[in-house]
Amino acid sequence: MLKDEDRIFTNLYGMHDRTLEGAKKRGHWDGTADIIGKGRDWIIDEMKASGLRGRGGAGFPTGLKWSFMPKESDGRPSYLVINADESEPATCKDREIMRHDPHTLIEGALIASFAMGAHAAYIYIRGEYIREKEALQAAIDEAYDKGMIGRNACGTGWDFDLYLHHGAGAYICGEETALIESLEGKKGMPRMKPPFPAGSGLYGCPTTVNNVESIAVVPTILRRGASWFSGFGRKNNSGTKLMALTGHVNTPCVFEEEMSLSVREIIEKHGGGIRGGWDNLKAIIPGGASCPVLPKHALEDAIFDFDWMRENRSSFGTGCMIVMDNSVDVVKAVWRLSKFFKHESCGQCTPCREGTGWMMRVMDRLVTGEAEVEEIDMLLDVTKQVEGHTICALGDAAAWPIQGLIRHFRDEIEDRIKAKRTGRSGAMAAE
Ligand code: NAI
Ligand code: SF4
Repeated sequence: MLKDEDRIFTNLYGMHDRTLEGAKKRGHWDGTADIIGKGRDWIIDEMKASGLRGRGGAGFPTGLKWSFMPKESDGRPSYLVINADESEPATCKDREIMRHDPHTLIEGALIASFAMGAHAAYIYIRGEYIREKEALQAAIDEAYDKGMIGRNACGTGWDFDLYLHHGAGAYICGEETALIESLEGKKGMPRMKPPFPAGSGLYGCPTTVNNVESIAVVPTILRRGASWFSGFGRKNNSGTKLMALTGHVNTPCVFEEEMSLSVREIIEKHGGGIRGGWDNLKAIIPGGASCPVLPKHALEDAIFDFDWMRENRSSFGTGCMIVMDNSVDVVKAVWRLSKFFKHESCGQCTPCREGTGWMMRVMDRLVTGEAEVEEIDMLLDVTKQVEGHTICALGDAAAWPIQGLIRHFRDEIEDRIKAKRTGRSGAMAAE
């Protein structure tokens, strides 16, 4: 379990001063110029050694991603883009950084941009995050005023500008290339990859898109050392992480914890246990709507990290867990997610545009019990037609929760179809 002195985010609950002065008292902006003075290669090597994996959900190694940026300019500028379009259902961890600890992000943006040869960075913040935008903009203005960023940032000789861009409420703009399109003033529709943004990103220039938390932890990792960070968690799953618990725990919250604790420890320690006790647990969705649901029997020895979740046919995602007790109608919960993905599909590619509609319509029939039992396998087949055949990950994200539902809760789906046939209660009216 993480000790207080090992926490990176010391103002998660907004109990302390979030201004520059307060941030400095809590150890931020300490020796920033010295870190930059060690050079680009040192910073990137340290980040690689720390084992930090992207905190936005995909878990791609951060240092490796930075190393894809060109070392020598070919005449095009390089950019850092920070993805603050936090829209994954139940994920609200970056919000806490931006409203209570914004200087961690600004200092990280400066160091990361320097390491990638970028003189400008953009933060793309979710449209609904109004207070967070205000807090972050105030912190950016203060950082400019005090010379932490801008011309000759922190006295390093490096010029660095940081822009905050407010999104307009589209979930798909959290996909990195849709975000870039939106930043450029276009409709937020994902681009084909490759080319990855490091080759051709914002305005066709080398760009790295990183999650808020991934950038905000950078200064502390570099101050305390890569081995300090990699000392937490299992190999390939290192570090501390902002996580969240929502749903049927006694104390829903956002918290910082080390990686690779057990799911049970996380729920007991931070969530105050399941409402009605551990035996009342039905299932979890580990880290976002796209992560397949895992039933209680799969969770007895579950480890809360990237590799365990992948090996057990789910994903760690953002580490913001939805906990469901036995009162939950899990078929209805996944039906609701299928409506969400249908609504948020940008409609650009056929398997997603048509597939999310197909999946939702079959889920409509399953949730009311009006489907035929054979339609369960047909639905599974449709998810396989969508998975891996779309431009961006939204298609996969729509398919996986349904696959998880059928894998673990087929009996509940069949029961409600049979109940409908025999006139017993059990099937729910779709809203
Ligand atoms: P991805 O795995 O395609 O890419 C992850 C990152 O690695 C990207 O920045 C990509 O450019 C880079 N990358 C991957 N392969 C590369 C290569 N060969 N060369 C260079 N760069 C490479 O995943 P994606 O589509 O960026 O993100 C999907 C994840 O986003 C999901 O797992 C989901 O958990 C998460 N998500 C998070 C949300 C939030 O609110 N935080 C919202 C929606 C989804
Ligand atoms: Fe748009 Fe869906 Fe295709 Fe992504 S997968 S580009 S959201 S239609």
